[in-house]
Amino acid sequence: MLSTPRLTPESYKRLVESARNDPEAFWLRESRRLEWSALPIVAVDTGEGWFADGRLNASVNCLDRHLTARGDQTAIIWQGEEDSNVLRLTYRELHARVCALANILRESGVKRGDRVAIHLPAVVEGIIAMQACARIGAMHIVLFGGFSAEAIADRLADSGAVVVITANVGRRGAKRIPFKTTMDAAIALRGETSTVRRVLVVEVTDDAVPLTEGRDALLTPLLETASTTCEPEAMNATDPLFLLYTSGSTGKPKGIVHGTGGYLTWASYTHELIFNHQQGDVFWCTADIGWITGHTYVSYGPLANGATLLVFEGMPSHPTPGRWWDVIQKHGVTTFYTSPTAIRALMSEGNDIPAAYDLSSLRVLGSVGEPINHEAWTWFHDVIGAGRCELVDTWWQTETGGAMISLVPYAVEPRPASATLPLPGVNPVLLDEKGTPLEGAVEGILCIDGSWPGRALTIWNDDTLFQTTYLRPYPGHYFTGDGARRDADGYYWITGRVDDVINVSGHRIGSAEIEDAISEIHDISESSAVGVPHDIKGQGLVVYIVPHEGLSEEQTSGLKDQVVRTIASKVGRYAVPEAVYVVPDLPKTRSGKNVRRLMRKIAYGETQGFGDLSTLANPGIVDDLIRIVGKA
Ligand code: WTA
Repeated sequence: MLSTPRLTPESYKRLVESARNDPEAFWLRESRRLEWSALPIVAVDTGEGWFADGRLNASVNCLDRHLTARGDQTAIIWQGEEDSNVLRLTYRELHARVCALANILRESGVKRGDRVAIHLPAVVEGIIAMQACARIGAMHIVLFGGFSAEAIADRLADSGAVVVITANVGRRGAKRIPFKTTMDAAIALRGETSTVRRVLVVEVTDDAVPLTEGRDALLTPLLETASTTCEPEAMNATDPLFLLYTSGSTGKPKGIVHGTGGYLTWASYTHELIFNHQQGDVFWCTADIGWITGHTYVSYGPLANGATLLVFEGMPSHPTPGRWWDVIQKHGVTTFYTSPTAIRALMSEGNDIPAAYDLSSLRVLGSVGEPINHEAWTWFHDVIGAGRCELVDTWWQTETGGAMISLVPYAVEPRPASATLPLPGVNPVLLDEKGTPLEGAVEGILCIDGSWPGRALTIWNDDTLFQTTYLRPYPGHYFTGDGARRDADGYYWITGRVDDVINVSGHRIGSAEIEDAISEIHDISESSAVGVPHDIKGQGLVVYIVPHEGLSEEQTSGLKDQVVRTIASKVGRYAVPEAVYVVPDLPKTRSGKNVRRLMRKIAYGETQGFGDLSTLANPGIVDDLIRIVGKA
């Protein structure tokens, strides 16, 4: 069954034109998709921020305003790993739970502008916690479940979080993932300087966990007595809604700050357009809420649009290889949004597995997080979508708030493996290295002209870094860090990062972040992390390390394990490298800069075609590296 197109090729063109001709009127009109306590009368950011004079509350927009028309509609279908473990919450029930938690946060002393950290497995409380923070004007910082205690400690300290919401444990089959004890360790790492005053614990299972007297509390008993009405804070459109850490070229992860009015407009606008959203859809975005995709297309976009969303706690191929397809069949999922890494992994299991399920409820498929290769696109489209579903490849970033370049179903002609065209109101440009805009069919550095409502406000505690990272490299343009190719019809093909960010399974990892972690190992004098192509993960991480002189063979041979352990504990297991090469030196320019380009090529397995090596201070090292990588 086809869904009714929201846009036709003609109405899409009109939208593009009206956004181009009169952005102020266009965005003011789009802002009316939200409910404001004070309507904005200015739209475009001219220095004061987007919709600068408007006031609103994000949770009112995601919940309260749906109560009259669709209070009894299912807002969330939660499917646990065990098939019988299902929870359905209507908008009315979700609203009540959010209000109750918001009241508990207020009673815990959380005030407007305070920061609350959320570290939870894929349970509904994650979404409830985000909405509860939004209701009282506190900024949430959702921490990815896979972060190590040290990674959590850094983020708690940088954000100054006063309250933490975590779980006793996470579950993975019979295995238990120690959320609470990881959080305890993270808080303990900062000792007296920790800003965390209260830890609220969701009991996901009945596993007991130690509670620190005066600081920790179990949520269930508090929720039982909390009031389910809670006056929302009227926020300025430009007040921060949340902060979310992501990796860039600099060592430390940056706290990207998103505002309220602009971000929510963008979340709602893009969710509606790219997924052709309509009443009755069952929307499933597989992203963890610890990433931006889980903010915009699990929590804010679908709820702002009154959708029914599916949340799944579990793995794609467990206990059976067709588990995801089973979930789609069981709940009649219409819209399914996932990552190329997941698609490739599922594809590798063969076509028989999805063929055993009825996937005819699907209408729109989506991909995000990394470039999707032709083969994965085709498989997703032909096998999962049976050739009849629209497949949207959506390019965007933590900093952009929501999708920027994406197919609009039924309105834009698809092209396999292309993110296709910018959404109406988005103006990408391709620049050469000097910053000169390139015309026509060409490859270049992807930047965005001007601003758009979803653009991040700043980096927490470091506006200068925001300016120097995104706005100053190419004045007048927002610098994305990605490269792209544009074809003769104006279609975009994202080629990947042009900076030192490595994208492993859609997780952004900064080279400098890895090198910083390794620098703590005493016996290593220097290291370099580079990305290499990986069949499933898109990119894999490879690390070169240079041991200090004079180490014994035994000491040297222990270094690889130490690198793996250090990265797992300082960053998280998701950042553990595919390979660690012990090398005598790194290729360097005469001014002492590491030549990553060479290390990357050698790690790819290339042995020639490196160009002019005479500019290197140590050209002989190239053969050493080739030999070491070749032998590994
Ligand atoms: C990459 C995830 C190609 C890109 C929403 C970007 C993509 C980074 C795509 C942002 C796509 C995301 N095609 N590359 N459809 N989507 N990327 O901040 O390199 O976790 O800069 O946001 O992922 O990752 P982030």
